[in-house]
Amino acid sequence: MNQDQLKQAVAQAAVDHIAPHLNKDSIVGVGTGSTANCFIDALATIKHTFDAAVASSEATAQRLRDHGISVLELNSIQQLRFYVDGADESDQQLNLIKGGGAALTREKIVAAVADEFICIADESKLVNTLGSFPLPVEVIPMARSYVARKLVGLGGEPVWRQDVITDNGNYILDVHGLAITDPQGLESAINQITGVVTNGIFAMRSADLLLLGTPAGVKQLGHT
Ligand code: A5P
Repeated sequence: MNQDQLKQAVAQAAVDHIAPHLNKDSIVGVGTGSTANCFIDALATIKHTFDAAVASSEATAQRLRDHGISVLELNSIQQLRFYVDGADESDQQLNLIKGGGAALTREKIVAAVADEFICIADESKLVNTLGSFPLPVEVIPMARSYVARKLVGLGGEPVWRQDVITDNGNYILDVHGLAITDPQGLESAINQITGVVTNGIFAMRSADLLLLGTPAGVKQLGHT
């Protein structure tokens, strides 16, 4: 199986996982990226069984609408049973690095609202220690240099992703060289830097379930 087939397999596994719990009033939270795109395509096959979706990016909202799935504003809903999204890295405790697609802030907001966060990924994303993937940090544009200096002080090597403006109008710094042995502590410390919107460590709200695509089939880590 190639990587695309692994992504499609975990996307279908996520649909199979949520389908028994959906009804005509259900709202599904949907993430961003190539694995989330596979999920959207699989979700479209059962679109008659739920009401609408909430999207973590403009790109995801567009893909959902292209499939004929209604997209609601997060502020208009009271409860979200499921959020399904990919990740750039996951450790065994389901702490994640996200934001390779620059959608980390909206992803973190939707994940915070959801009762259950299902992460879908191919097996290349599972690591022992987070940090080989450069950590995305969303910053207010005027704070970029200041935040970068502070991130150096935390032991990282920030690189400005110059070709990207986030859906929120901000910049992304990708922080190289971190071995994230205390995900919650570093998530909190970076968020304390003035000018940081949020960072791509998902540890204070980690995934509840990781569906991992392997050539031997979809493995489950965590529980719901
Ligand atoms: C988007 O900002 C990210 O958090 C994605 O969820 C992450 O980059 C995974 O993307 P892929 O599924 O394309 O690897």
